[in-house]
Order: sequence, then structure tokens, then C-alpha cells
Amino acid sequence: MKDLFGNALLDYQNGNYTQDITTSTNISDEDVLPLPYLFRAFKDMPTLEQKALKLCKGSVLDVGCGSGIHSLYLQKKGFKVKAIDVSNGAIEVAKKRGVLHAEVLPLLGEHHTFDTILLLMNGTGIFQELTQVSKYLAHLKSLLNTNGQILIDSSDIKYMYEDEDGGYWMDMNSSYYGELDYFLSYKNEEEAPMKWLYLDFETLKLACETLDLKCELVLEGEHFDYLAKITA
Ligand SMILES: C[S@@+](CC[C@H](N)C(=O)[O-])C[C@H]1O[C@@H](n2cnc3c(N)ncnc32)[C@H](O)[C@@H]1O
Repeated sequence: MKDLFGNALLDYQNGNYTQDITTSTNISDEDVLPLPYLFRAFKDMPTLEQKALKLCKGSVLDVGCGSGIHSLYLQKKGFKVKAIDVSNGAIEVAKKRGVLHAEVLPLLGEHHTFDTILLLMNGTGIFQELTQVSKYLAHLKSLLNTNGQILIDSSDIKYMYEDEDGGYWMDMNSSYYGELDYFLSYKNEEEAPMKWLYLDFETLKLACETLDLKCELVLEGEHFDYLAKITA
């Protein structure tokens, strides 16, 4: 991984903001991911994220923390927060911005336990593909203290396959429709392609049930997105 995402965060943090990140997927054209969005304040966060932050309790693990926006908000409210990310640049930025406990660590490398685990901005993306959902959920379950909770957001992206007549063009025999190949470029460099999973609520709930986890729909967003709360 070249860590172009981390480089972009570092540029923004260091006052060198000249370009945004460009993203695309195997089913969608190029799109712009504005760097300021990755530094959004509470008031500019989607309602789902604001709700997740309001539901936090006890010790918190912020998984895939990016620039540390959610961690910083919670830290300022007095929560004990640990922020982890696989991006070196992201963790450097989170530390520079004041996140006290930030570490370069993949989710599967975390082994401490917490009262709240946050996965925000399509938190299921980190699971990468449907076949890995159970493995990730089982690991997340092992990181929960008694009465702990996992707060995770995602979207049902079936709408992306809808044609003008209201029909769907996805191939039901191929892999799950929320499994995307995700391409990111920044300053004329291309990151290695990533797998990124969007999971509809019912599929997430089913996967949770097979692991004896309870999955509740907390809130639905404006565009097929949702916030779920998972408990043991
Ligand atoms: C879409 S960004 C979200 C960043 C931040 N949560 C936000 O809302 O602005 C996803 C983040 O997850 C990180 N990530 C991807 N896979 C990960 C993994 N297995 N463990 C920890 N972090 C991961 C990426 O490096 C990236 O910073």
C-alpha cells in the first residue's frame, strides 16, 4: 500500500491542501472525495455519525479512525478512546491533532476489550468481502466488555444497480452486490486496488445472528444508509 490516503490527510493537516482524492469503483465512475470532509466537525457529520457519537459509553475503540475526528470529539467529552488505523499517515495526523492513544494497527491485530467499538464512514468496508464478515464480527465480539456495543454504519447499494425503468441489472449468480473493487488516486498516483464492502442491514443482521449477536437498526439515513448497534 502506498498510503496515498494517509499522504492526503498529512498534506491537509500540514497546510498543503491543493488537490482532493479521486475515487472510483468497478460499478461507478470517478468521484471526488474532498479532503475537508475527512476533517469534518461534529456539526457537519451525517446524522448517523452524530447519533453514534451520542450513543457512546465507557471505553471506546475507534476502528479506521482516519484523521481522528470521532476520537477527538469523544476525547473532548471525557471518554477514554483508542484510535486505530492501518494507514501510517492517518495515525500521524490523528496524533498531531491531539488523539492521545492512536496506533497503526489492523482491526484483527487489536486484542484489548472496550465498552464501545465504533466503525464509521461505511464501517463494514473494512470487512472487504461477504465471506469475511463472520470472521470480523467474531473478532469484534471478542473485543467487547460485558454489556458492550458495536456501532457500525453502512449502506444498501442496490440502488446503484437500478436502471431507468426501475429494474436491476446486477448478476444474481455472481458475488454479493455490495462487494466493490475500490480505486483511489491522489496527485497523479494510483493506490493498489482495494476491496470495500457495503452491507445491507438484513445481511448484517443475519451474519450477527449466526454468532449469537443481537443487531438493531438504530437509524436510517437519507440515502439507503443506516446505523446499527450490535451487542452480545
Ligand atoms: C472511509 S475511511 C474512514 C475514516 C474515518 N473513520 C472517518 O469517518 O473519516 C476508512 C479508514 O479505515 C482504515 N482501514 C481500512 N482497513 C482497516 C483495518 N483492517 N483496520 C483498521 N483500519 C482500517 C483506512 O485506512 C481508513 O482510514
